[in-house]
Amino acid sequence: MIWFKKLIRKFGIILLADQVQYYYLLLRTRRSRAAFKRSNPGVALPPTYFIYETFNLNYSAYYQGGLETAKWLVDHLSKYKKPENLNILDWGCGPGRTIRHLPGIIGDSSRFFGTDYNKEYIAWCSSNISKVSFATNNLTPPLDYPSGFFDFIYGISIFTHLSEKMHYAWFEELMRVLKPEGILILTLHGEAFYDRLTEVEKKQFAAGNLVIKGNTKEGHRTYGAFHPVSFVRTLIGNHSLMEFIPGKNINGKPQQDLWMIRKTA
Ligand SMILES: C[S@@+](CC[C@H](N)C(=O)[O-])C[C@H]1O[C@@H](n2cnc3c(N)ncnc32)[C@H](O)[C@@H]1O
Repeated sequence: MIWFKKLIRKFGIILLADQVQYYYLLLRTRRSRAAFKRSNPGVALPPTYFIYETFNLNYSAYYQGGLETAKWLVDHLSKYKKPENLNILDWGCGPGRTIRHLPGIIGDSSRFFGTDYNKEYIAWCSSNISKVSFATNNLTPPLDYPSGFFDFIYGISIFTHLSEKMHYAWFEELMRVLKPEGILILTLHGEAFYDRLTEVEKKQFAAGNLVIKGNTKEGHRTYGAFHPVSFVRTLIGNHSLMEFIPGKNINGKPQQDLWMIRKTA
């Protein structure tokens, strides 16, 4: 399967193959999506392609899974900061899977922001999600926020779709908009994804180098970056690493690593 994907990527048709997979899943999930809609008539749902591109074409995983992820984020944050009166940013929020739940969990004393380079996602979020201020950014920095504005920023599976150059540029930008002592949570493709790499890529990864599966649109789900621990430690530099939780492999499904970083003053 890996060699097949490698071939598709090499011939520059991975976006086309991804579209085919989308239509296949659209057909396969029609009953479960209809059932979710019947049981949850009050839940605003993004267009199917938005959910597919950013996550997984499954309404329940988008909505219930998003709620679980939001609670998981707050649990991690609460170990270090009282979740009150904070400025919180979801960088790469997609169609709002997690940020839509945060105001309900954390409460009105905090302010919530979401940003993404995909204008369509942000248009949908702005019309359908309340208590969150949404904005677009470009594929490249900067963000349109002042320096030192946020207490907490999270980016779930964003660096996983960016080039090496963009890793350095965006890490610096996230640190700019974070307050001193502010907290950043990132999820990345770590060791659990090793089996998805070709033999050449495995060698690169084992040597501590970022692995890029490119030849497609940067930022899109078909563009992949894989993160050895030593690469991320170098990226973090002098900021302090609070937690590193390696992703597990659950029933053959690799989970992303969690990196929790505190900005040094
Ligand atoms: C795998 S999806 C994850 C979406 C969301 N964080 C979630 O957990 O549901 C990756 C997201 O990153 C966004 N993205 C990619 N490059 C970006 C960039 N340079 N700036 C902001 N968002 C970006 C994509 O548009 C997409 O919404």
